[in-house]
Amino acid sequence: MTVQQASARAHTNIALIKYWGKKDQQLILPMNGSLSLTLDHFYTDTTVIFDSSLKADQFWLDDQKHDAAKISQFLDLVRQHSTQRFFAQVKSYNHVPNAAGLASSASAFAALALAASQAAGLNLSRQALSRLARRGSGSATRSIYGGFAEWLPGTTDEDSYAVPLQEYVDWDIEMIAVIINRQQKKISSRQGMERVVETSPYYPAWVKSTQADLLAAKKAIQGHDLATLGELAESNALKMHALNLSAKPPFSYFEPQSLVAMRLVEKLRARGICCYYTLDAGPNVKVICAHQDSQIIKKTLQSVFAPDQLIEVFPGPGVQLINEK
Ligand code: DP6
Repeated sequence: MTVQQASARAHTNIALIKYWGKKDQQLILPMNGSLSLTLDHFYTDTTVIFDSSLKADQFWLDDQKHDAAKISQFLDLVRQHSTQRFFAQVKSYNHVPNAAGLASSASAFAALALAASQAAGLNLSRQALSRLARRGSGSATRSIYGGFAEWLPGTTDEDSYAVPLQEYVDWDIEMIAVIINRQQKKISSRQGMERVVETSPYYPAWVKSTQADLLAAKKAIQGHDLATLGELAESNALKMHALNLSAKPPFSYFEPQSLVAMRLVEKLRARGICCYYTLDAGPNVKVICAHQDSQIIKKTLQSVFAPDQLIEVFPGPGVQLINEK
């Protein structure tokens, strides 16, 4: 029996300027560039074991066996680019406190890209890893890097990957995740973005204005300008959610409690506290703020939300190999 294995850890990322639509479903090429912050708190550990005695790929998530079809497709890409021909056992653990419903395909596929490529004997550059992770899930392309990363949309498989913008964030920015619903979303990101590309009359305006948001956000990051970055992120998220409301049939990820959290953030801002929100393809709200204001923000949010619904998260590192278990 021959066994080759590797383990990797990747952290999730939250987009400040969103990816919401593909121009190529197969290759996962996005319509527009996007920009994210990788977080320290939420991560996935994945071990890939290529094993000559296996008759099929296997996938275990948090010690439960799952359907391996999507993972197997991804492993095929790795096998195509290496001399590895065995099937693999993939074991993943999602580290998300209190099953917070923030587990993300971003950390999953970034960890899988590194673990699988290493176990297959490939020593990929971070650019090549980012391209590989993209084939599993678009947002995973950015989780290769720590801190702020930008996904360059590109036009082919070769030129669509993320680049680091500021890997070590040495200024005061963090997020408070407001956990509103721990259940799985009814409309996946994949389905949601496909529907808006096909049916929203606002889609061309989204692409155009997001390009401008991205340029301005990069400038704000360079200048450590939290207020401008927060304002851009909030507005960009609202535009993304407006696409969903304008799709046919329309859909929304907001829940009543999402709106409650959003209003509280607006009220805090009216009181002069620098904080902004963003939401992805789900009801949970992420508040962007500085650490110096996080206590007062949490206190205000606690007028409605329980302490365990609020998780403070900081900029986190890029994907890395870890000791095999
Ligand atoms: C709203 O990366 O999950 O979080 O590429 O189809 O797997 P697929 O989609 P996914 O979409 C993420 C969408 C988002 C915005 C973002 O992360 O940029």
